[in-house]
Amino acid sequence: MIDTKSTGHGTWSSRFAYILAATGSAVGLGNIWKFPYITGENGGGAFVLVYLACVLLIGIPIMMAETMLGRRSQRNPIEAMELLTKESNADSNWHYLGWMGVIAGLLILSYYSVIAGWSTAYVLKAFTGSFIDADASAIKTIFDNFISSPIQLLFWHSLFMLATLAIVVRGVNNGLEKAVQYLMPALFVLMFLLVGYAMTTGSYFQGLHFLFSPDFSKLTANSVLTAMGHAFFTLSLGMGAIMVYGSYLSKDISISKTVFIIAGADTLVALLAGIAIFPIVFANNLHPNSGPGLIFETLPIAFGAMTGGWLMGILFFVMLTVAALTSSISLIEPTVAWLVENKGFTREKACLWSGGVTWILGIGTIFSFNVWSDFKIFERNIFQLLDYLTANLMLPIGGFCIAIFAGWIMLAQHSEAELNMPSTESYKIWKILISYVAPASVFFVFLHVVGVL
Ligand code: TRP
Repeated sequence: MIDTKSTGHGTWSSRFAYILAATGSAVGLGNIWKFPYITGENGGGAFVLVYLACVLLIGIPIMMAETMLGRRSQRNPIEAMELLTKESNADSNWHYLGWMGVIAGLLILSYYSVIAGWSTAYVLKAFTGSFIDADASAIKTIFDNFISSPIQLLFWHSLFMLATLAIVVRGVNNGLEKAVQYLMPALFVLMFLLVGYAMTTGSYFQGLHFLFSPDFSKLTANSVLTAMGHAFFTLSLGMGAIMVYGSYLSKDISISKTVFIIAGADTLVALLAGIAIFPIVFANNLHPNSGPGLIFETLPIAFGAMTGGWLMGILFFVMLTVAALTSSISLIEPTVAWLVENKGFTREKACLWSGGVTWILGIGTIFSFNVWSDFKIFERNIFQLLDYLTANLMLPIGGFCIAIFAGWIMLAQHSEAELNMPSTESYKIWKILISYVAPASVFFVFLHVVGVL
């Protein structure tokens, strides 16, 4: 069928390597920084429940579909969609999906890199002992002073972009595996230790109650959209990142099993982050809806107060930075792969261009936390606009199209062969989820937000 040898496209060294890389892409700022603060802004339990339902019913089936499209074509997303439409005799407009993915990836990376830069900056703050015995208001002052300085934010954003490019230029399936192999287990241990600290704050059950007892009166149409968008964001779905990772996957590996492992690990990290953070929020009379600064205003309190907190603080922000790195490379890789494979760029030149564009875009996000904080369109600053446009609109639209393509356009015999599910029943369940449940859910959430329903 598809000739893979002539494309110069790489392959993961093993199933384990693939799981590590894809988990590395999924687990990142989305789990530890974004999930807690959007949960706080959207009232807690009910929001968490909708998010979990979206992961299970929309995210997992679409992740299987996206991996499958990548592996079947063994191409970068733009070319993959061109090739797969030909194979299915479908309309050639489907390749715009690949295009939207490339744009969404760069837009997300532009603000992702800025926030990852905060995490890197906090490694230094932890190291110099800024958090030791600091109370909640001192920690907040540190954060406020930091984000009010465009120069500092620009410095850390630039550093993080450079680190991302330094890895991507070598190719994602070279060298990345080792980093993730040690990072993931270490990150889990640290999250459990932080949960242990949360238990000592005296507000542990208040935190759990906030996270897990749903109050549906707090749920607005926009909260539901945010929860759904976050399911896409946290699993890296809807823009071709998982497609490009799937394209490096060899044919003998079970897609369904690996997807369950990746989605399970991702969800666990997010929930642990929530369980660690909200008790600290309540114990210090902070507000759950403090926005993007939430983890930077809460976790340092824990590091300042606990024994061994100095070292834990350093380790935590190092790991968060590395977790962000293993995600950021998947945001830029579809663009780089396409520039190299289709436009004849060298890998260096492709990194320079895509990285340069993203770096410049990031300046908009930096300014939205200080000099342009009052500049708003539709009541949102630049960072919030970019986040809404990508996570709440582009990713769900991309995911919707992937679902339609996998469920309705691609021949069933192809998807069945590619997914190679443990039983025909499980294939049928996937087929129903991908053809009906996932696209209809996305569609209805959109209708609801627009106000038609
Ligand atoms: N999933 C990552 C996180 O949770 C972010 C991310 C990486 C991403 N690649 C992506 C989001 C592709 C959307 C699409 O931090």
